[in-house]
Amino acid sequence: MTDDRVLWITGASAGIGAATARRAAASGWRLVLAARSLDKLTALADELGGPDRAIAVECDVTSWDDQQAALTITLEHFGRLDAAWANAGHGGARGFLAETPEFWRGMVLTNVYGAALTIRAAIPALRDSRGHLLLTGSVAGRRNIPGSLYSATKHAVHAMAESVRQELDGSGVRVTVIAPGITDTGFFTQVPLDAPLQPDDIARAVLYALEQPPHVDINEILVRPTAQEL
Ligand SMILES: NC(=O)c1ccc[n+]([C@@H]2O[C@H](COP(=O)([O-])OP(=O)(O)OC[C@H]3O[C@@H](n4cnc5c(N)ncnc54)[C@H](OP(=O)(O)O)[C@@H]3O)[C@@H](O)[C@H]2O)c1
Repeated sequence: MTDDRVLWITGASAGIGAATARRAAASGWRLVLAARSLDKLTALADELGGPDRAIAVECDVTSWDDQQAALTITLEHFGRLDAAWANAGHGGARGFLAETPEFWRGMVLTNVYGAALTIRAAIPALRDSRGHLLLTGSVAGRRNIPGSLYSATKHAVHAMAESVRQELDGSGVRVTVIAPGITDTGFFTQVPLDAPLQPDDIARAVLYALEQPPHVDINEILVRPTAQEL
């Protein structure tokens, strides 16, 4: 058994999470890949070297049982947790008359409650490892977007990051919010920009935060495409 550090990523089956898993694996991290699509996670875990290096864990982040189970599996399999990244999330159409109330419920539960549950599940193990907690916010969590409940969920994520940073101050645990601009992923049915970010652009930002020495806490990284005005 190696002592390579262990990173748990929610929303690892696609987009930014999957790209970061690949880059982290190349940097020597062992991975716990969590999302609802077990088939995609299993293929990615195989690609990254199989059970010694990466495991797939089916986890709906809106379920506390699933999140607790993911943490239990992590500790049973790898014996440690060094970083946890609450990255799972999705958007929705703009407009307070758009989407259905049930869609809204799912988005708020995933983006806000799901992120809070990941924090809750990870804190004890991160205290033990003096580890690193990361959350995926957004440019939409830093500025208001007309008619966007999604934007409000990401403001909540940024607020949670600062709240938990203060709670964990002195514990050795670092807290980073990653705030992407428009990135070419399954988040969009049609990407609204000619030259968006690519998932690996965000992956490099995540690795920058993860690879700092223990006394350096990168609290927030906001990354826009060069041509994203707002
Ligand atoms: N793309 C952008 O422009 C952009 C900009 C700013 C912020 N973000 C944020 O970046 C994060 C990643 O999104 P992405 O752009 O990489 O989009 P994506 O390609 O659609 O990936 C979303 C990921 O979240 C997972 N997910 C969604 N609901 C889940 C749930 N209930 N439980 C567990 N996993 C769930 C999906 O996996 P399953 O469907 O397999 O569960 C998938 O792995 C999100 O928080 C998003 O809000 C994206």
